[in-house]
Amino acid sequence: MDVEKSLLRIVTTGSVDDGKSTLMGRLLFETKSIFEDQFEAIRKTSAKRGQQDVDLSLLLDGLAAEREQAITIDVAYRYFETPTRKFIIADCPGHEQYTRNMVTGASTADCAIVLIDARNGVLTQSRRHGFILSLLQVPHVLVVVNKMDQAGFDPAVYQGIVKAYEAYARRLELRDLAFMPVCALQGDNVAARSARMPWYEGPTLLQYLETLHVNPEQNLIDFRFPVQGVIRPGQDFRGFSGRIASGAIRPGEEVVVLPSGRRSTIKAIETFDGDLPEAFAPQSVVLTLADEIDVSRGCMLARPHNLPLVGNHLDAVLCWMDDAPLDPGTQYLLKHTTQTVKALVSKLVYRFDVNTLHRESAARLELNDLARVELQTTLPLFFDPYKFNRATGSFILIDPVSNRTVAAGMIRGQSSPPPGAKEAPPVQAHSPNTFARQPNLPREAREARNGHGAAVLWFTGLSGAGKTTLGRALEQALHHRGCQTTLLDGDSLRQGLCRDLGFSREDRAENIRRVGEVARLFFEAGHIVLCTFISPIAKDRDQVRGLIPAGRFFEIHVDCPIGVCIGRDPNGLYGRALKGSILDFTGVSSEYEPPAAPEAVVRTDQESPERIVAALLLKLEQAGTIPKGD
Ligand code: ADX
Repeated sequence: MDVEKSLLRIVTTGSVDDGKSTLMGRLLFETKSIFEDQFEAIRKTSAKRGQQDVDLSLLLDGLAAEREQAITIDVAYRYFETPTRKFIIADCPGHEQYTRNMVTGASTADCAIVLIDARNGVLTQSRRHGFILSLLQVPHVLVVVNKMDQAGFDPAVYQGIVKAYEAYARRLELRDLAFMPVCALQGDNVAARSARMPWYEGPTLLQYLETLHVNPEQNLIDFRFPVQGVIRPGQDFRGFSGRIASGAIRPGEEVVVLPSGRRSTIKAIETFDGDLPEAFAPQSVVLTLADEIDVSRGCMLARPHNLPLVGNHLDAVLCWMDDAPLDPGTQYLLKHTTQTVKALVSKLVYRFDVNTLHRESAARLELNDLARVELQTTLPLFFDPYKFNRATGSFILIDPVSNRTVAAGMIRGQSSPPPGAKEAPPVQAHSPNTFARQPNLPREAREARNGHGAAVLWFTGLSGAGKTTLGRALEQALHHRGCQTTLLDGDSLRQGLCRDLGFSREDRAENIRRVGEVARLFFEAGHIVLCTFISPIAKDRDQVRGLIPAGRFFEIHVDCPIGVCIGRDPNGLYGRALKGSILDFTGVSSEYEPPAAPEAVVRTDQESPERIVAALLLKLEQAGTIPKGD
């Protein structure tokens, strides 16, 4: 029977003073979701305190203290059910002025209850809550005017509040708005109709909640699968785990992997209980693909003809939730589906005055402010407007130092990049109507003819660490052994293919993207490709890794203390950078992220180039890339 009962997710907004705990306690009591002895205990406490009515808020407040411990996002869920439906209430405790908990609870809710104290009328807080609910597109909003007993059950008081709130809500995008007068403490209009408010003809709260028509809020059209992890139990099984954010998928259907843009088909959908003929949001599954293409955490699978937006400039509405104001100079961490990237609020377009909904210019954002902003991320995201997709249209900002969630964001779309800035690498094909073809000659045929395997050897390290020296020496050694090789070097490629690029983060990313694509072409042609680039950003290197099959990409960290590099300074660049005449110089005024798990680390301050080359040759022999030497 339970299976047939529908589930309603409710979020309650309002403060303890508005009677939120009492209302929730009343709902639990009326639906027999509390035990006799619990009731008896709070009845006694109430009597002891001289309260006439049983204080049902004690049911919830007894737990409040433990809930208020250091949990970043503090939402407690309470369950109750009636013969027709199950309910989950996201109880968002904490100080009333904190919207953070509410945003979290509301992002998945079907229905929101906005509590208003009849004595106070519509306060700024009630407006702010309505505004956030409209931004989050909670489908149904019910304004419960509580404490009607304190207002003498006067219909004029109730009507006044309804009118005021309606006037405000007219300018919001609320899809369904309803009102109801109650007295939670004594139960009026909660489960039973109130004899004291005969002028109210609508449903009781429980009736309303039981009969509310809920559309599943899941987007079942646009297939989006943010990859959570790669599962590799054996040599030939590689599955991608994650939760389907939206849409549905079946085996045999074609998918595109973002950001690489490579295509494959779904081989199987696996779950703990066996394979599925179809999977849909919000199921957690493991997908396997028909082709061996590299996919890692943060990638997204989608359908070729229904792709998300891709870019690193976002137009969004931000709800600031931290005590410390937004600092436009700070790089925050932006968490979006399974990706976490660095992000900057590049423009504060305007702030909303929540009372009037007017837009006002602002230089900063403070706790509870809502604003339209533009953000710039260091890496492209795969997203949809929140309007169409709650899962891929929302994100949070995290303070990198305190690790606190400081803002929640809803994406409106792509913003145009600031003048002069280059767009991130166009990872989504901007060449419509083109078709991927199978290679003319398979790589295996070329490798067989060459007598060795293809591979990409990626040398990364500071300027002056010895990448070029090692790459050149190793290429010569391989050539003498009869191998097909190609050497791609930073300084040389920047004379031609990449001569339009500088050394900003974006330009370096684009540099590495192009090199990666070129390396892939030579790799597919059967070559051992040696790439010598500073490539300071781990994610950029990982994207190249993603283009090359597992086991064929060797990341080699050419490690050398910066002091030694400065001492070598082959082209006098460090000298100039240290004087400030070269900007963004790696190791001096621009960061270098060492590889976390490289295939090899070589220390050029400790070993001679000859010995390092010999060691790398041995490594290639052991990997089966080249045959054993004499
Ligand atoms: S990367 O960061 O994009 O990978 P790449 O390896 O192509 O850099 O180019 C690095 C070379 O450019 C260095 O060897 C150095 O000669 C030169 N160069 C000029 N300006 C800079 C700079 N600001 N930072 C680093 N290298 C620079």
